[in-house]
Amino acid sequence: MTSSELWSRETADRYDAGETETSSPAVLGPTVAFLAELAGDGRALEFAIGTGRVGVPLRERGVPVVGIELSEHMAAVLRRKVDEDTLPVTIGDMATTVVPGGFTLVYLVYNTISNLLTQDEQVECFRNAARHLEPGGRFVIELGVPPLRFLPPGQVAVPFDVSERHLGFDTFDLVEQILVSHHFSREGSDGGDGDDGRYRRDNSRHRYAWPAELDLMARIAGLELERRVADWDGASFTQDSGKHISVWRKPT
Ligand SMILES: C[S@@+](CC[C@H](N)C(=O)[O-])C[C@H]1O[C@@H](n2cnc3c(N)ncnc32)[C@H](O)[C@@H]1O
Repeated sequence: MTSSELWSRETADRYDAGETETSSPAVLGPTVAFLAELAGDGRALEFAIGTGRVGVPLRERGVPVVGIELSEHMAAVLRRKVDEDTLPVTIGDMATTVVPGGFTLVYLVYNTISNLLTQDEQVECFRNAARHLEPGGRFVIELGVPPLRFLPPGQVAVPFDVSERHLGFDTFDLVEQILVSHHFSREGSDGGDGDDGRYRRDNSRHRYAWPAELDLMARIAGLELERRVADWDGASFTQDSGKHISVWRKPT
């Protein structure tokens, strides 16, 4: 049993259309290059592979990729792009599901560790990554830094996008370390016939964590921090960075 919300068929069918920026060559090029270098001649395991936004191009680059994914609807969208022999996916929880074989790389991108809503499950996720890694292998996480510097006392929400077709803001439970992202999105295509002027309301719950807490989880799982950068191009991580890409290594 997982605390993660199950992604619906509706969300899965919409996912790729909403990810034009994160699926652009400008984003995916450096992402795939970073991961391919770490995978080397070995195999890669993507936790929460979704529709294969990253896993499919990494496979196309020649890295054998295997996925674990909770939502069969998200996996079904991936399956329209690539067959099971080329990119096998197991339906299950990334904190507990075990797949055969050893890996030089396990990765979990796009803030998705935060979909596990308890600390215990996030620790189990690190343990599960370590379980799949060969000695010397790496676990990579991409995660936003909690935006609490933008939440002054007395304010309940932090906006993260105010654009023509989308309003997004986060609210916080500071005691439980839970962030809820709220979205109001214009229905239909931009200015096209499908634009009926209505807005759809969605929200998603996340357990936010600081980099230092993740380092402790990694240590509990027997992994050592090797590198932390601010983006897939390797920019330095500073106190103003909005996200981090962290690499932990399983000792040889
Ligand atoms: C933001 S999407 C990321 C998908 C893909 N990795 C990408 O970068 O586009 C989050 C994905 O995590 C999956 N997910 C959430 N909780 C999960 C869990 N406990 N185990 C496995 N997958 C999970 C969701 O079903 C969804 O496909």
